[in-house]
Amino acid sequence: MARIPKETVDQIIHHADIVEVVGDFVSLKRKGQNMWACCPFHHEKSPSFSVAPAKGLYKCFGCGKAGGVVQFIMDIEGTSYVEALKYLAKKYGIDVEEEEKTPEQQLAQNDKDSQFIISNWAKDHYHRLLLSTDEGQGIGLSYLRQRGLNQTTIKTFELGYSLDQWDDLLKSATAAGFEQKYLEKTGLIIRREDDQGQDTGRRYDRFRGRVMFPIHNVSGRVIGFGARTLKPNDKTAKYLNSPESDIYHKSDVLYGLYQGRQAIRTEELCYLVEGYLDVLSLHQGGIKNVVASSGTSLTDGQIRLLKRYTDNVTVLYDGDAAGIRASLRGIDMLLEGGLNVRVVLFPDGNDPDSYIRKVGDQRFVEHLEGASQDFIQFKTDLVSREAAHDPVKKAEAIREVLQSIAKVPDPIKRQVFLQQTSQAFGIDEQVLITEYNKLVRNASGKAAGGQSSEGSGANSTGQPATRNQQSATRSLSPEEEAEALMYGASPEDLGGSSAFATEEKEELEPMPDVLQQCERELVRLLVLYASQPLSPDVAVAQYLLAQLEETPLRTPLYADVLHVCQQEMEQGRWPEVRTLIQHGRSDIRALIGDLATERYELSPNWTTHQIYVPRELDLIQEACDNAILRLKKEIVQRELNQLQKELRDARDPAAVDKILEALMLYKRLDNELAAHLGTVIPRNVG
Ligand code: CTP
Ligand code: MN
Repeated sequence: MARIPKETVDQIIHHADIVEVVGDFVSLKRKGQNMWACCPFHHEKSPSFSVAPAKGLYKCFGCGKAGGVVQFIMDIEGTSYVEALKYLAKKYGIDVEEEEKTPEQQLAQNDKDSQFIISNWAKDHYHRLLLSTDEGQGIGLSYLRQRGLNQTTIKTFELGYSLDQWDDLLKSATAAGFEQKYLEKTGLIIRREDDQGQDTGRRYDRFRGRVMFPIHNVSGRVIGFGARTLKPNDKTAKYLNSPESDIYHKSDVLYGLYQGRQAIRTEELCYLVEGYLDVLSLHQGGIKNVVASSGTSLTDGQIRLLKRYTDNVTVLYDGDAAGIRASLRGIDMLLEGGLNVRVVLFPDGNDPDSYIRKVGDQRFVEHLEGASQDFIQFKTDLVSREAAHDPVKKAEAIREVLQSIAKVPDPIKRQVFLQQTSQAFGIDEQVLITEYNKLVRNASGKAAGGQSSEGSGANSTGQPATRNQQSATRSLSPEEEAEALMYGASPEDLGGSSAFATEEKEELEPMPDVLQQCERELVRLLVLYASQPLSPDVAVAQYLLAQLEETPLRTPLYADVLHVCQQEMEQGRWPEVRTLIQHGRSDIRALIGDLATERYELSPNWTTHQIYVPRELDLIQEACDNAILRLKKEIVQRELNQLQKELRDARDPAAVDKILEALMLYKRLDNELAAHLGTVIPRNVG
């Protein structure tokens, strides 16, 4: 067993700064004493992952993962304690004197460790072959040189070369004492099977006579390889890649992220290209904030990964129109992930690699700056050009653009995009909005939440991040809120959501009281639509009163009105505006008067009674459910808030545990409510 002496362990733990260590994997933002980010261990869009620098701890309130620096590395990398220590030692330049070990001992920790170690060894092996064998230099290195890559780039990306033989790696690895099992697991070696699929016992190298591009994970470990052939007329694929393994998940990897992550963070922007060579050329040209999707279409995992480092992506396209069309969907996914997306095209069939080599670094950067276009704008131009002079096509084109806009989680941004699009197509904004709402409604009808199931978490939790960027969202007036709802926002987009958001509220201006708003809306539905049947034997009043039995209203006036309604029901009457407006208490009369009239002022569209009411009637069940869920969510929110305060002040470890347990419970409840809310989309426009 590899052993690291106790003093060295202490030294590593002493030097390792939790904020620095975690900060290599997520973008932490300070809030109060702690730092926060979206959790790297589970999918979420609002930060519930926190780092407490003073305590040297991290903790996710969403999924419960918690621990110190070493645990963090073990969790995020899936490695053993010893491997995690070695990672930290390397990061902090601490020597780890290990006892003499055989490779078996090195491999002894766990399966994943073994695969990491063997991949790392193979990377070194290929690198050495490239730089110091005749074949490597003569074929591999000269090819890379001819592609314009210099020594620094080759070293930074640890490029290599595999000899044109069947068993060079197999022999070398075996001689070095590595087990075949792991060579096979990482896909470096292939076992030959006969026609019946029986093992023939023969093994051979997967990569032969190719330039090797090691693929690193974000902490710099090699997890797989891309390998380019050097034979122009090779019948085999231009690139061979490592197969999926315990350590290599293609869909969660972005090539160049490890080398580019610091630049991505400081530039607050990431360029997205297609190929390995594009990454290398740009990096060499000083544009280090670049990653490649490596040929496959973008995946959710890649987008989430990217989002850990920046909110801004610029997609660099190879010129031709067909290719662009094919990538549009991937870009919609970026929008859906809450990223701000821009696009750059290159002239005459150039790709980023060929173009930077042609015009030089300086002009390339100028091109990036000059030619970059917001994606929605870009798509609008693209489809409207295709649809020129053809009204049918134009309608289709508009719908395509609206579809992209619908992916944007931030209601304010959506609104801006809708304005732009209406101008671009020369179409009245209201017409466009109507069309937009139709589209969103159809989409949500089809996939009971296509946007919402993924989006339920997304919407509810996407909010705080948005708040950080857009102070506008923070102080939506009821009018603005209604306006945003009109643009297809779910109430979740608007409601102050997570504990995180609420914490922020305190530091900033006071928010309109969400709880009161929710309660008021419930009372409004109750008194305006009491007798409306939701099903053959349940009317709105019965439904709401039953729902509210468990959740009493907290605002005294609203609780009183509710009580009055209850009494009316007990007397066998529906609570009606007509009777309630006669009530003995002036504050109740005033409230009923307001409730009966206010909605009509919310939007210039809803100028009359006749237009608005029938529509809301159609959707009354949803309106009721929405209001109830929002109220419950708000109550949970307050509970979460309270618990967080308690957690800050708690000293006794047992008390802390108790609070954490409660926090997790409420957090789960919160997520559940968010999920329900996500499937109830307000449709009060049409
Ligand atoms: N790719 C792949 N398998 C292939 C072709 C491509 O995995 N058979 C992936 C590689 O990750 C490649 C990316 O798709 O980097 C983009 O392909 P391409 O533009 O053809 O490759 P480049 O890296 O630009 O290589 P080159 O310029 O040498 O053709
Ligand atoms: Mn290329």
